[in-house]
Amino acid sequence: MTTHTDRLHLGAAWYPEHWPEDRWPDDIRLMAETGFTVVRMGEFAWSALQPSRDTFDLDWLERAVELAARSGIRTVLGTPTAAPPAWLVEAHPDLLAVDDTGRRVQFGNRCHYCVTSPDLHVAAETIATELAERFGANANVIGWQIDNEYNRVCFCDRCAAQFHVDLAERYRTLDALNARWSTRYWSQTYSSWAQIPLPIGPHNPGLMLAFRSFVTESYRRFQRVQVDALRRHLPPHVWITHNFMHWYGGYDHYALSEDLDLASWDWYVETGHNDYLSSGAAHDLVRGFKRRNFWLMETQPGHVNWQPVNAMQRPGEVRAMAWEAIAHGADAVLYWQWRSAMGGQEQFHGALLDASGRPRPVLEQVRRLGRELAAASPILAGSTVPPSTVAMLNSYPSRWSLETQRQHEDFDYVKHLVHYYRPFARRNVAVDLISSSAALGGYQIVVAPALTVLADGEAERLRRFVEDGGHLVLTIRTGVKDVDNALLPARPPGPLAGCAGVEVEEYYALLDAVAVEGDGLGGQATIWAERLSVLDPSSVRVLARFGAGDEWLAGRPAITARPFGKGRVYYVAAYLDEGAQQVLTDLVLSTAGVTPVLAAPLDVEVRTRLSAAGEEILILTNHGPVARSVELPWRAHDHLAGSVVGETIDLGPYQTAVLSALGVEDALRPGRPEETASRI
Ligand code: GLA
Ligand code: ZN
Repeated sequence: MTTHTDRLHLGAAWYPEHWPEDRWPDDIRLMAETGFTVVRMGEFAWSALQPSRDTFDLDWLERAVELAARSGIRTVLGTPTAAPPAWLVEAHPDLLAVDDTGRRVQFGNRCHYCVTSPDLHVAAETIATELAERFGANANVIGWQIDNEYNRVCFCDRCAAQFHVDLAERYRTLDALNARWSTRYWSQTYSSWAQIPLPIGPHNPGLMLAFRSFVTESYRRFQRVQVDALRRHLPPHVWITHNFMHWYGGYDHYALSEDLDLASWDWYVETGHNDYLSSGAAHDLVRGFKRRNFWLMETQPGHVNWQPVNAMQRPGEVRAMAWEAIAHGADAVLYWQWRSAMGGQEQFHGALLDASGRPRPVLEQVRRLGRELAAASPILAGSTVPPSTVAMLNSYPSRWSLETQRQHEDFDYVKHLVHYYRPFARRNVAVDLISSSAALGGYQIVVAPALTVLADGEAERLRRFVEDGGHLVLTIRTGVKDVDNALLPARPPGPLAGCAGVEVEEYYALLDAVAVEGDGLGGQATIWAERLSVLDPSSVRVLARFGAGDEWLAGRPAITARPFGKGRVYYVAAYLDEGAQQVLTDLVLSTAGVTPVLAAPLDVEVRTRLSAAGEEILILTNHGPVARSVELPWRAHDHLAGSVVGETIDLGPYQTAVLSALGVEDALRPGRPEETASRI
């Protein structure tokens, strides 16, 4: 299905059930004045929609949907299953999850359910069906969100029993499971499935990895119940999504996204300020869930209420962040939330209206954004982010494996991946952040940060990518484990050693930094370093070596490169500092012949979207508080300013420009014929 929208959407989460109905028209009027085109409703409203098992009240929601529609505001409906109501919990006390200390979680803090509970499944199917029957064909409901930010992991006996069923299906025999998990170690050998525990804290690596797959499957089954219930009543063009939490690692987001039409996510900047070089990775991660545009289903309206210091964004940052999301593929930006309830756990979270029902200062920024989105919508609606020439691989099994066996407390899979991402972002080279099991055709550079677990076919796919001319960057902690989290009977990078031309003799969790020295590639390694032996000295080039200081590492290769097939394989045996990481990235880019879409000064992000007609649209955002100028190689329409820009565009603090090159005739100015040739 196509999930492209006919316009860029702006909106917020709105909870009409918190307010007397005679207030609603004021809210809708203020929303329309802000430029809203969408509201999200319903995702926690279970007790209002179904006050008891046999009583449903959907009329108020229908009135809210209609009222919004009369002002041109469409609705995304959430199924309310993140907040199972008290009557349901009272009827089925074991619907409450059990935490990892064995305690039943308390009612009233949402996501209190055990995701495998059959009573939950039945109740979820019932309420989803009621909603779908009433609203499925309502043209004002353009999409559906299932539940809200899945995140609970349950340790109850029923989950254990279901885990055993799943394990029996996967391993077939206990002998196979015992062998693959090395259960002779510490006498863990299982003689019945029921003996296998749910892992609490550190445990057998095979068991721990299998448990993550089980959590993924449990959520997938729960989600499937609701997708099926909705789909029966939804026209094909109405999409279904879930609002993910970007780097949350509790389950495999690729697997859950398979059953959805659209990926969406909730973006909060924890420090109150946006570091765009890192947050771009989160957007690209979510775009990679379905390899298509996504929605920003929630974002921060100034500040949150759950940080040690709930700092306020800068005014312009509010808009710059929205534009960053759009530049990376978002088709909608929704704030959380429109107005805080008078009570409830989130009274002090930022919102667009205050307790008096009047605009907070941040609303002025959102209004400006509303005008900008309206101006850019004609060119950006239906546009997509073109595939990049650079891919970065994300692997949940590798992440889970490393998170439970860090070997150095500062080694964090996601931070390491983002460390590889940032230098590309700093050069404005777009990256497709994709699953390590995705096809690699069309890429010139593939970076595989810490691909510790090599799933079936992954090594072979990477080898073929290089043979066919790709440039592959392998890093520390690659090719160590199999899919059962058992060590491979080989030196890392295991089956990739053949094309890398190096293998790892030993690894070192570093207490002190170690110097790295190379031609222009000097710097420091911290956290982690590996001692390589070069398998094929005739073809492996050593780009950098460890300096003096560490007796094991001194003089040993720190970064190698080797031609292989028509391509090239790098092995980076150190966790480099940011400067050295940038130099390395620049080298990889220039060797592969990949250049940025546009050279831009510090803080200016440049991203491309392709219009439905195939026209390139550049989105330039100044993420800093200082004005910047960007040289343009051609004249362009500036869709936000409504003007034509020539050689230079000036971007004030946090300002965005949406540019498309002028047509050939427009671009031809007397004496400047070269402009027509130098398109983007
Ligand atoms: C999450 C939830 C919202 C709200 C916000 C607050 O993203 O989905 O319901 O609690 O956090 O930051
Ligand atoms: Zn459970």
